[in-house]
Amino acid sequence: MTDYATLAQTIQSLTNGETDTVSLMATVACEVHHADDRFDWTGFYRVTGPDMLKIGPYQGGHGYLHIPFSRGVCGAAARTGEVQLVPDVDAFPGHIACASSTRSELVLPIWNGSGRLLGVFDIDSNQPAAFSQADADGLASILARTFHAVP
Ligand code: SME
Repeated sequence: MTDYATLAQTIQSLTNGETDTVSLMATVACEVHHADDRFDWTGFYRVTGPDMLKIGPYQGGHGYLHIPFSRGVCGAAARTGEVQLVPDVDAFPGHIACASSTRSELVLPIWNGSGRLLGVFDIDSNQPAAFSQADADGLASILARTFHAVP
C-alpha cells in the first residue's frame, strides 16, 4: 500500500509556492509513478477546450493525445466530475487502451481552488483490481492541495 502521508509531504515540499500547471503536473506524475510498483502509467489529461482533453505530463508508454469528454475512462471522469475506479478495464464500456497490458485504472478529476476543471489524473496498472478507495482518497487529497492555487 502506498504511504500517501509521506508522498503528500514530498510533493508539498517539491511544489510549495508553485502555481504553474505543467510544473505541478510533471512533479506529481513523477513522484506518484515511482511511489508504487502497481502504477504502470501515471499522468494527466488537460482540459484544452469545450469537452476536450489533451495529454499532459506523464510517466510510462505513449498515450493518446486527444480524448473527448464523450470517450474513455478519462472522459467519464471529466464529464461527471466523479472518480473512476475501474477494477477491470475490459468491463468498462468505451475504455481506451493505450497499452494492451493495462488491466485496471483509476482516474480522478482535478480542479483549481475556484472550481475550474483543469483535467484528470490517470493511473493505469497491469494488475487486475489494483486500486482501492484508499488510493482514490489519498490521491484526491494530494491533488486538491497541489492544484488549489492554480489560477
Ligand atoms: N485508458 C484511458 C486513456 C488514457 S491511456 O490509458 C494513457 C481512457 O480510457 O480514457
